[in-house]
Amino acid sequence: MNEIEALWQRHSVRSYKPLPIEAETLQALRSCIAQCNAESGLHLQLLEDAGGTFHRLMSRAMGLASAPSVIACAGPDGPELEERIGYWGERVVLCAQMLGLNTCWAGTFSAKQTPAVLREGERLVIVIAVGYGTAQGKPRRSRAPEEVSAGPAEQPAWFTAGVRYALQAPTAINQQKFFFRLQEDGTVEVSDRGGPFSAVDIGIVKYHFDLARREAGLPTLWG
Ligand SMILES: Cc1cc2nc3c(=O)[nH]c(=O)nc-3n(C[C@H](O)[C@H](O)[C@H](O)COP(=O)(O)O)c2cc1C
Repeated sequence: MNEIEALWQRHSVRSYKPLPIEAETLQALRSCIAQCNAESGLHLQLLEDAGGTFHRLMSRAMGLASAPSVIACAGPDGPELEERIGYWGERVVLCAQMLGLNTCWAGTFSAKQTPAVLREGERLVIVIAVGYGTAQGKPRRSRAPEEVSAGPAEQPAWFTAGVRYALQAPTAINQQKFFFRLQEDGTVEVSDRGGPFSAVDIGIVKYHFDLARREAGLPTLWG
């Protein structure tokens, strides 16, 4: 499975089997995270034991309390931290999918009870539940491409594919409040139409969009 196949197969999964991640899979996931950290300067961490990350009533009600492990998404605090967490965290999400795991981004969690290590100046933004789902999740409603993009009448295939891939991306409460505009000069402007965790969403959708650039043999725009 490649990343684009993984992108179509991925759905948020909130109910997990009580099984630890197999050793070989764990090793592969750790090396993907290490690679992302090396390229981005972020401090994404796989916490094999999720500990009290999802102890709160709300996450229990949503089922995430069954997740055996989490990826704590932290990095040096700054104005672009949330977007960068989204971009690189989504690469890890697709890697987990390729390894046969399931995931769910989670903005509702207990930062205090997440057993992450934070270095001086770092902030824990969000976590990603990870493990073997009891099922693979389901397709959900999506906005149409014309609601989230605009550009000249003639659009290159990489742009239309990029928008389709972005619509397949997870966003907080499925808000999909992003907008891609293809300019006359061929550049792409992405705007954030707000909402909870929308900056993380923007990073996530940019990662999906960039997969269409790579598929077309073009340089990524944001990686
Ligand atoms: C930034 C972000 C935060 C999220 N927070 C939560 C959460 O706290 N609890 C939850 O159950 N799902 C959460 N989700 C998952 C979204 O609800 C889910 O991605 C969205 O409904 C789209 O469904 P899909 O991921 O299956 O495509 C979050 C997703 C993102 C991207």
